[in-house]
Amino acid sequence: MPSPVPYVVSASAPGKIILFGEHAVVYGHPALAVPVTQVQATVTVSSGSHPGVWIEAPDVGLSAELSSLQSDQPLAAAVHILLSDLGIYSTPPLHIQVTSSIPLAAGLGSGAAVSVAIIRALSIYLARTLPDSRISALAYQVEKLHHGIPSGIDNTVVTYARPVFFVKGQSLQTFHPKTPFTLVIADTGIPAFTKESVNAVHRLWQTDPARWEQVFNEIGGIARLARAEIEHGTWKVLGYLMDRNHALLQQMNVSSTDLDHLVTVARDAGALGAKLSGGGRGGNMISLVDSRQAAAVAQALQSAGAVRTITTTVE
Ligand code: PMV
Repeated sequence: MPSPVPYVVSASAPGKIILFGEHAVVYGHPALAVPVTQVQATVTVSSGSHPGVWIEAPDVGLSAELSSLQSDQPLAAAVHILLSDLGIYSTPPLHIQVTSSIPLAAGLGSGAAVSVAIIRALSIYLARTLPDSRISALAYQVEKLHHGIPSGIDNTVVTYARPVFFVKGQSLQTFHPKTPFTLVIADTGIPAFTKESVNAVHRLWQTDPARWEQVFNEIGGIARLARAEIEHGTWKVLGYLMDRNHALLQQMNVSSTDLDHLVTVARDAGALGAKLSGGGRGGNMISLVDSRQAAAVAQALQSAGAVRTITTTVE
């Protein structure tokens, strides 16, 4: 008799990049983000050979039973938050394998993607498949443990894996480019700690709320205009909007010498516009390019010290 086929469930979530509106989004203004499918987090759940829930994440050197981990450890937190939401207090022996090609602390949504993939795979394994809205809401709870006051943009874009026009607290709005456009993303290699930059911007805001509200307002306007341009397929003005958004982020002290350098290099190599992306002070920058220029811009960024470039088409 053939042995029974073991029950195994896998789920993946992509990385993400913010196009416009980071930081201002925390204060209620819109932001645009898109999935980056070249990098993914994948979670596989299968029946375990020992009692309990065993989590293995070789990329971060983790191999441990759930109850031995701190409850706010990011992977453990995603499991706890899901089980508690489902009202499940004991599980059969489980093995949860987490792998990810999304760089950590780089503004590419690694934490949110891992949470989403865990919640999605485990809920399916437990025969309690959840809608995306619920998966995103649960991943947001994990984000809150680590980022303090996240806007929710990361969990939203990686759950739905579509371009998103995001306004904190509002229901999902996706958008569709009329004409695909190409981005070259480059990593400074310097870890970006979003919580720190969000807190620094908050302190800045407290020094002069009226002034910074005006800046956030302008960034929100850029995000709205950018969405309209993308939907109308007139993406060439997006380059100017990226440049202006970057200048406003510089005013907010969330850029850095390395980010500014890569932004300048991209523009000099023919990009139509460039800006830092995400929390800033490290992590990634993005540049908008004519697809025929993508290889040259990527090459220039690597020569200028970028530790990694990703070329992606938004469609
Ligand atoms: O660093 P990232 O890509 O996770 O993005 C942070 C975006 C912020 O607007 C700075 C914070 C947030 O919660 O939206």
